[in-house]
Amino acid sequence: MIQREYWGSRLGFILAAAGSAVGLGNIWKFPYVAGANGGGAFLLIYLAMVFTIGLSVMLAEMVIGRMSRKNAIGAFAKLKGGAWPLVGLCGVAAAFIILSFYSVVAGWTVAYMVKSVAGELALADSGALGGMFGDFIANPVSPIFYHALFMALTVFVVLSGVGAGIERASKILMPALFGLLVILIIRAVTLPGAAEGVAFLLQPDFSKVTWNTVSEALSQAFFSLSLGMGAMITYGSYLGKKDNIAGSAGWVTLLDTSVAVMAGLLILPAVFAFGFDPAAGPGLTFITLPAVFAQMPFGSFFAFLFFLLLAIAALTSAVSILEVVVAYFVDDRRIHRKTASIAVGVIIFLLGIPSSLSMGIWGEFTLFGLGFFDLMDAISSKLLLPVGGLFISLFVGWVIWPAAKQDVAGANGVMPFWVDGWGVIVKFVAPAAIAFILLKGLGVF
Ligand code: TRP
Repeated sequence: MIQREYWGSRLGFILAAAGSAVGLGNIWKFPYVAGANGGGAFLLIYLAMVFTIGLSVMLAEMVIGRMSRKNAIGAFAKLKGGAWPLVGLCGVAAAFIILSFYSVVAGWTVAYMVKSVAGELALADSGALGGMFGDFIANPVSPIFYHALFMALTVFVVLSGVGAGIERASKILMPALFGLLVILIIRAVTLPGAAEGVAFLLQPDFSKVTWNTVSEALSQAFFSLSLGMGAMITYGSYLGKKDNIAGSAGWVTLLDTSVAVMAGLLILPAVFAFGFDPAAGPGLTFITLPAVFAQMPFGSFFAFLFFLLLAIAALTSAVSILEVVVAYFVDDRRIHRKTASIAVGVIIFLLGIPSSLSMGIWGEFTLFGLGFFDLMDAISSKLLLPVGGLFISLFVGWVIWPAAKQDVAGANGVMPFWVDGWGVIVKFVAPAAIAFILLKGLGVF
């Protein structure tokens, strides 16, 4: 039997896990959600959620992974059994679904890299760019081609293995991502009129804060930190016993949050400097920003760098999602990593096709009032991820607590001072908070 792999170094693990966390969620979603929900006030609530519940659940996932040295399903089977592996199954299902539409959007970013090189984005008016974006995503062929290309890249990294594929790619791509982010931020905040955008992100407006804001902040925190699916269980399963796992979880959380705030400092000043409206997600990224770039000197070049940044962020996240599924087939079904990666990649690619088509020719088909793309998004991020996160917290807090506590203690067995605080969060605070967003997301209240 092939030996199960370990990460080559602590830095490699931190970069891979940060690569998972830093993704489209940070760059295209966070700036808008923050701006629209009270700016600095949202930021404060978000930071509070991230560094209490988010960090605790991340550590819980990593501990489950390290203790079991198994994939998301196998980990629960090994540590407890019974019905618990269903939690992992929920995660694997979420991975199939999320990656299928995530890759479609990631494909758009690759297409826009090509368009910026070709000079096609150099249109100064956002009406024309809006039309172009609408036509592009509604096209039944071209976006599916880029979705296939992106899935192929993701499969290639995963089939190369944990060390030679995931870790090596993260060690190259994550520094590149930070470099690009810094270059683009310097460009954005030195634009005349940028201050208004910074104010939109940072100035607290507590009048916009409702329970909705709180629930929005917690869902955003979960998605952004890659929690609830077993991605951090899977990555944690390649950790050695001696690693300082809590410190690593802290670093990953800090890096993810910094990139979200930095993305806000990149996007919002640029948007305000040119007098545009900070519209939602896809519109902001694919319509407003190209219009902003078109008005700058060397705009096509900066547009290319921006879409490259997005594509890199999406790739390291997609890799972690695919790895959740592949690790299961490799560990528990004894399927060769290469075979599993390719087969799962093909199935996810096929599942993504209706999502892509729902932007155009299949736009008429709706279920529960949602198009296919939005339905996939809702099932996964409103249902499967919170359910996963809820049971992961309960599992660590109530089922394996004494062993979990021991796992985070240093090699000399000394309990860290925060261990009881972590216990209170995974036993009570996180389950209650997640149950709240779950019920709210399902429209119960
Ligand atoms: N965190 C990534 C983002 O912000 C997406 C992601 C990767 C994810 N792996 C995940 C989300 C696991 C939930 C669960 O874009």
